[in-house]
Amino acid sequence: MAETLRARWTVADVQADTGWTYPLTAAEGAELIAAVRGAGDPERPILSRRREDFALRDAIPTLAAAFREVRDGRGMALVKNLPRKGVTPAEFRLMTWAIGLHFGVARPQNRTSDYITEVRDAGHAYRSPTGRGYNSKAELDFHVDGSDVVLLSCYNQAPVGGMSMCASAATAYDVVKAERPDYAEALTTDYTFSRNGEQSEGEEPWYAAPICTTENGRVFCKWNRNRIQNAQKLEGVPQLTAVQREAMEYFDTVLRRPENMFCMHLEAGDLQMLCNQTMLHSRTGFEDYPEEEKKRTLYRLWLARPDSRRLPQSWEVFYGTTEPGTVRGGMKGHQYDDARRDFDARQAATLGMKAA
Ligand SMILES: [Fe+2]
Repeated sequence: MAETLRARWTVADVQADTGWTYPLTAAEGAELIAAVRGAGDPERPILSRRREDFALRDAIPTLAAAFREVRDGRGMALVKNLPRKGVTPAEFRLMTWAIGLHFGVARPQNRTSDYITEVRDAGHAYRSPTGRGYNSKAELDFHVDGSDVVLLSCYNQAPVGGMSMCASAATAYDVVKAERPDYAEALTTDYTFSRNGEQSEGEEPWYAAPICTTENGRVFCKWNRNRIQNAQKLEGVPQLTAVQREAMEYFDTVLRRPENMFCMHLEAGDLQMLCNQTMLHSRTGFEDYPEEEKKRTLYRLWLARPDSRRLPQSWEVFYGTTEPGTVRGGMKGHQYDDARRDFDARQAATLGMKAA
């Protein structure tokens, strides 16, 4: 029961108790960058890398504690002090990847089946039918990503904006239940989500799932306004009812109440970890530096975790399976080839996980 309560937090709770931050010591940071530099050319294809290529020992307990916080605690963790000074973007990206190799099986994230993505303004439009927020500078809606855990490592922060926001789905859902039980009920009905053109062969362009599902005392939340709105334009998709629309608007408003929406400013060298089942995240828009080398740059990694929980049945359609501890989630995209299949199988074996 205690773990369920910790995921149900308000801003006052996480401000009063900052136990969800995990600063690396100087020695742990030094080990991380030494492991990266000891692994050769940082530009080598990441899928060829293996866990044993990165000699990590001292940094593991701190990182493991952060992952436990994500699973059993607040649903979010912030690891601080990743080496940054004198570290190149390629080295920083590889450091993020090396952490991933020790703690899970990375999942593809997009149409081009990328296993790690650079979050940077490439001038993309967030609201387009196939748009993704991570290549824009727009303010993003609250949403979950498509894997058990998302890691976001910050190489450069923007001079203005780019604030990261988190909110507990369990808290927001409780508020909706208390204030508008009819809306809470509507949130448990099926909504249709667009795959935004990222579906792989054999997958439909959309799928249906509830926004909130309660199982074993836990709230599992799948919320993404863009994808629900985009699905409404696709052929054959059932139209949202009035109460479904009102319910999702109400839920979003509750998430944004000051007592529920926690803002954190990621700094260079920060690594944010979030549970995509209990934690919703968003970001404010930003203004960037004109110089290429100073532009806001983060690396995003999606992981399936060996100690993941069983998912509600309604999550099977997106995650592929509800089985705990399996290689699940992600978006296989259009380039899920032998190199990717081999990586998944090898990394699953390394971590003793079942392939989906
Ligand atoms: Fe996201």
